[in-house]
Amino acid sequence: MARKKIVAGNWKMNLSPRKAEKFTKEMRSVINTDNVEVVMCVPFVYLTMVQEILDGTKIKIGAQNMHYADEGAYTGEISGKMLSRMKVPYVIVGHSERREYFAETDTTVNIKALKALSHGLIPIICIGETLKQREFERTFEVISKQLAIAIHDMSEEDIAKIVIAYEPIWAIGTGKTATKEQAEEVCAAIREQLRTQYGDIADSVRILYGGSVNEKNANELFNMPNIDGGLVGGASLKPSFEKVVHYQ
Ligand code: PGA
Repeated sequence: MARKKIVAGNWKMNLSPRKAEKFTKEMRSVINTDNVEVVMCVPFVYLTMVQEILDGTKIKIGAQNMHYADEGAYTGEISGKMLSRMKVPYVIVGHSERREYFAETDTTVNIKALKALSHGLIPIICIGETLKQREFERTFEVISKQLAIAIHDMSEEDIAKIVIAYEPIWAIGTGKTATKEQAEEVCAAIREQLRTQYGDIADSVRILYGGSVNEKNANELFNMPNIDGGLVGGASLKPSFEKVVHYQ
């Protein structure tokens, strides 16, 4: 089954309102592809503006996080329900920076992902090992556990919708990309784990690689059999994001 590639940009906490507007307009005029689903995950405060600029294009928007409660006394939080009502189709869940700085755990990632799905959002679920874990040859064990908990209680229907982003933490923002073989090996293991649990639905799940993806390495990474595109941080803020999207 052919899986449509996804290139998702993750702006993180970057760009002024003016720069965000200018950059989005620039991307709108240069990105044009039917082969790749392009998603721009922007700060909450820019979602509406970016959505309006991209209206009528094929580029979609996404949030970078959400809360699992629908509403209530959670000062400063944004719920999946709100995102869904604002017609935001994608949401990143469990990015390693959220795990590291905001105490997210595999369990909260699971609760958020289930809640996102219940509101019709597509969660981009991030998993990845630290450098130490890789050096101690624990990568597969760590990834397998993170994945198992993240997808706990998901139905076959849910699994067909989710996107998984394999992001080795040592490759994020470091300029140190995993080799295409390293990335493929883990993405293939992720798919195998999904297959063991859910059968052939595993073939329709999009598994992305993230970690210092840029216009130079996108082509070789995204052409690996089990890598269905990328989650792109630093390079999603540059004009060359267009080249990452048109990697072929
Ligand atoms: P990077 O970030 O491309 O800057 O390494 C990737 C990410 O954090 O999703």
